[in-house]
Amino acid sequence: MSPGMPSRSDHNLPRMIITIDGPAGTGKSTVAHQLAKRLGLEFLDTGAMYRAAALVALDAKIDPTDGLTLASAVERIDMHFTWSADPPRLLLGDRDVSQRIRDLDVSEVVSIVAGQGELRRTLVAWQRRIAEAHRRLVSEGRDQGSVVFPEADLRFYLDADLAIRAQRRARQLVDAGMQVSRDRIERDILQRDRMDESRADGPLVRPQGAIVVDTGHRNVDQVVTELATIAHRQLPDFGLDP
Ligand code: DC
Repeated sequence: MSPGMPSRSDHNLPRMIITIDGPAGTGKSTVAHQLAKRLGLEFLDTGAMYRAAALVALDAKIDPTDGLTLASAVERIDMHFTWSADPPRLLLGDRDVSQRIRDLDVSEVVSIVAGQGELRRTLVAWQRRIAEAHRRLVSEGRDQGSVVFPEADLRFYLDADLAIRAQRRARQLVDAGMQVSRDRIERDILQRDRMDESRADGPLVRPQGAIVVDTGHRNVDQVVTELATIAHRQLPDFGLDP
């Protein structure tokens, strides 16, 4: 695993981290990526790292509950982001897996993989190394403001009603050519929320001091504008793009 070459563009600006956590279906990834662009920061998608670990488990036929074996396989593999791309792409060796990690088989196993303490410790250490090299970052996930970067300069927690999250998920599935009942989707989301909230390591929580933002009845642009306004107000001396 490699943190990537330090970015040169932000040498003279202060180091800073904005974290964005929250459950699935709140539009977190899109919002985090857009916010990073608007403020002139880099973007780290930590869910992609857990998804890539799940793909490693599938490819190498590692039992997804065997955290020790999986953590050591992930440590050995050349997993890295290409930071010149926007958003950064995730590679295993020279194989770009950015799309592959969104497939159903990966999605089905990733919650189990993300529940393994040994693997979480490996990925958390990698995330911190990335933040050393990429000093001005919007980092998005489930435990970024609580566990990985509790000293973050600004912490957000995005949330939305279950029905709205299910509706967004249904739209994604229809776009991908799949038909699944709304009931089934709501049950899946609830089950995933429970797994995320109840695991011993890095559970999904509202980090202390996090600003909670409901994304339910607003589009991405409106949410990004609200977050950017808060960032400008709270971090006036950090050289954020206007
Ligand atoms: O955000 P996502 O759907 O790409 O996340 C994939 C999985 O990884 C999901 O089960 C939650 C988990 N995850 C996690 O446990 N910790 C993170 N920091 C990010 C994601």
